[in-house]
Amino acid sequence: MIPPLIAPSILAADFANLQRDVEILNRSEADWIHVDVMDGVFVPNISFGIPVCEAVNRHATKPLDVHLMIVQPERYIDAFARAGAAHPDRPGTITVHLEACTHLHRTLTQIRETGCRAGVALNPHSPVELLADVLDEIDLILLMSVNPGFGGQSFIPHTLQKIRKLRRLLAASGQTAFIEVDGGVGNDNVAALVEAGADVLVAGSSVFRADDPTEAIHTLKHFGQT
Ligand code: DX5
Ligand code: ZN
Repeated sequence: MIPPLIAPSILAADFANLQRDVEILNRSEADWIHVDVMDGVFVPNISFGIPVCEAVNRHATKPLDVHLMIVQPERYIDAFARAGAAHPDRPGTITVHLEACTHLHRTLTQIRETGCRAGVALNPHSPVELLADVLDEIDLILLMSVNPGFGGQSFIPHTLQKIRKLRRLLAASGQTAFIEVDGGVGNDNVAALVEAGADVLVAGSSVFRADDPTEAIHTLKHFGQT
């Protein structure tokens, strides 16, 4: 089995020691650095915005995986691309929410034009079939396995069925896209998530609340091995 890509979320990092925590990720087996942007409108919480993304980018050596939990995300795509997501040596991803986009096709095109991978996130209630007519434009599909807005929530088990359904949808359409799962990911569900078809796992609390984040990333990536 191919090990999953691991994208630790800096939402769970120590913001007063952000450089230290980004450097821990640089030295670890993390594949991407997940950057959770919340506007207090699309989700009931405010995290941080463009300057913090720029600060992470100044110290990061891994691609940024920017998750925009904001309304009208098309207004900020170029800004987040410049803030590090479109870094020429380590291009990353910008993910927008289906529920926040009136013209999703146009927004995905706009993301790809910046040089980033184009991602779409689905809230727990949004069926994967809603993406059927836009799969051509998508590089990554992020399935929320909690209601977005906060770290440290419990994983919603129904996500496993959504992953399997999305795998089937991608196979039937002959399209490839990363399947990313975000929320409540940890040692207790990593095997089931990968078995269901997840490629990328976001992990906030399970990495940064661990005694040793480097070891926690290693354990997630190589689950099932002793
Ligand atoms: C939730 C965010 C997640 C969050 C995950 O709205 O999108 O990326 O940081 O945190 P954990 O892993 O603690 O559930
Ligand atoms: Zn996220």
